[in-house]
Amino acid sequence: MPSVEEGPWRSRFGAKELALRTVVVTGAASGIGLATKELLESRGDRVIGVDIHDSDVVVDLTTDAGRRDLVDRVRELSGGTIDAVAAIAGLINSGAPDIAVNYFGALATLEGLRPLLAGSSAPRAVVTSSMASLLPHDDELVDLCLANDERAALDRARTLVETGLGKQIYATSKVALSRWVRRTAPTYDWAGAGIPLNAIAPGIVLTPMTAHMIDTPEKRERLTAQVPMPLVGFMEASAPAALLAWLMSEENTHMCGQVIFIDGGSDVSIRGDSTW
Ligand SMILES: NC(=O)c1ccc[n+]([C@@H]2O[C@H](COP(=O)([O-])OP(=O)(O)OC[C@H]3O[C@@H](n4cnc5c(N)ncnc54)[C@H](O)[C@@H]3O)[C@@H](O)[C@H]2O)c1
Repeated sequence: MPSVEEGPWRSRFGAKELALRTVVVTGAASGIGLATKELLESRGDRVIGVDIHDSDVVVDLTTDAGRRDLVDRVRELSGGTIDAVAAIAGLINSGAPDIAVNYFGALATLEGLRPLLAGSSAPRAVVTSSMASLLPHDDELVDLCLANDERAALDRARTLVETGLGKQIYATSKVALSRWVRRTAPTYDWAGAGIPLNAIAPGIVLTPMTAHMIDTPEKRERLTAQVPMPLVGFMEASAPAALLAWLMSEENTHMCGQVIFIDGGSDVSIRGDSTW
């Protein structure tokens, strides 16, 4: 994998100053993050990939040190200005670390890199929620996340695991994230600074995260029942990547605080008329 200094933007444009946009993508080593990175690079953007392995910036987003390093390294590699950030890194069914990466790691990414967006003429931010935000979740854990109490949130997540409710942690992380996006996007720091902040909520995407959930016909059937996708069924990572790329593009001038379901119809199947 090329380093940021030697990446494709250099060979294509000769000098990094001529790159179209500088974009940070977390979770860039796999699945949706990797597909997003590859799509943006194919369009000429300079992508600074972040992940716990195999990336331009290698950090652990569950730790304070990793979150600080992320900001320091991106500032160093970008020269202090980025045009967009996509917080995509995530975990499922790992217990408390789901909360540490999916919620607190995503917020640390977005809030930590927000000052670097200030120098862009068209700054954009996006995060991956999930259709899982429609599944059973724990309200107490949602509240602890939104209160920004990570220690108590991780304790609550451990309690959920001990009481057999560990499966709710992933859904809970995405409920909290969606609610945070809606609360935060219209504020002075984001909308007030001209930064559209939005989320996507994918249905089942064929990535390493979901591979073990569909590796037998029985598991596939169970997941299909839980996540109905009448429109074409499970999707490749290129589908959410295209939506993420648009949300980070200059064309996205007015979308603010939306959680956009790209889910083959699971939202409309599950929620029906209840949202309108
Ligand atoms: N695959 C799906 O069906 C699906 C559906 C809805 C939402 N999502 C969300 O999309 C995002 C990407 O998922 P994916 O399917 O591409 O998964 P994936 O497992 O293929 O990729 C996730 C990436 O996040 C990285 N990551 C995990 N923990 C990290 C840490 N502590 N620090 C830094 N990086 C870390 C992993 O190394 C990996 O490269 C996740 O937030 C996930 O919750 C996925």
